[in-house]
Amino acid sequence: MRKKVIAGNWKMNMLPDETINFIKEFTPLVKDTENEVILCVPYTDLFYALLNAQDTNIKIGAQNMHFEESGAYTGEVSGKMLKSIGVEYVIIGHSERRQYFAETDETVNKKLKAAFTYGLKPIVCVGETLEEREQGKTIDVITRQTRLALEGLTNEQVKNTIIAYEPIWAIGTGKTATADDANDSVKKIREEVAKIYGNDVAECVIIQYGGSVKSSNARELFTKSDIDGGLVGGASLKPEEFSKIVNF
Ligand code: 13P
Repeated sequence: MRKKVIAGNWKMNMLPDETINFIKEFTPLVKDTENEVILCVPYTDLFYALLNAQDTNIKIGAQNMHFEESGAYTGEVSGKMLKSIGVEYVIIGHSERRQYFAETDETVNKKLKAAFTYGLKPIVCVGETLEEREQGKTIDVITRQTRLALEGLTNEQVKNTIIAYEPIWAIGTGKTATADDANDSVKKIREEVAKIYGNDVAECVIIQYGGSVKSSNARELFTKSDIDGGLVGGASLKPEEFSKIVNF
């Protein structure tokens, strides 16, 4: 039985004092959940988040990393650096990074490998654009992204990868994929993993749904057969709303 994993992706929001207040208010609201709770915060909030989430069930993640360990990469942060301050998770290949920051399937794959090298748990994002969906290419796109992201990983590493299926047209738009649609896509991703790494591995992989998740639709989505939780943007910025999603 796979665990439900609910991660907030704060994107480029929240200052340190807001982070501290958020965690103060959020902690008691989620302390009894059996689900895994992760906050993926901006780099500048990581340290405050880690300090304030100590001795709670809230795990902390970053939203990106570079694949090299160190060097002349102005403005970048490596997996080794994240690990050194106690970060546990890292989002890789979010569609906003693919769209605005030239992230490719190749860099996503390098970053996934680097995440494992430095002992971070990756949340890798895949998802189709509206245009691709309308052209009937959804399955092609998400299975290709999945295959290329995982290329060269060991079975053990694949088992420990979280995949987030985030249809791009559903991100920040208020349009959610129907629970059945989302579950179908997630199943296809799992089948792709099974084809390459076998059923045992595929059955272990946590696959989340992301895109306009809120407290009013979380339950319907997260109780589907193959959806193992969610990656939540806007609705993760409010402690009470996000706690309802965690406690769906
Ligand atoms: P929203 O929940 O704001 O649609 O964002 C989804 C997302 O991109 C999470 O990574």
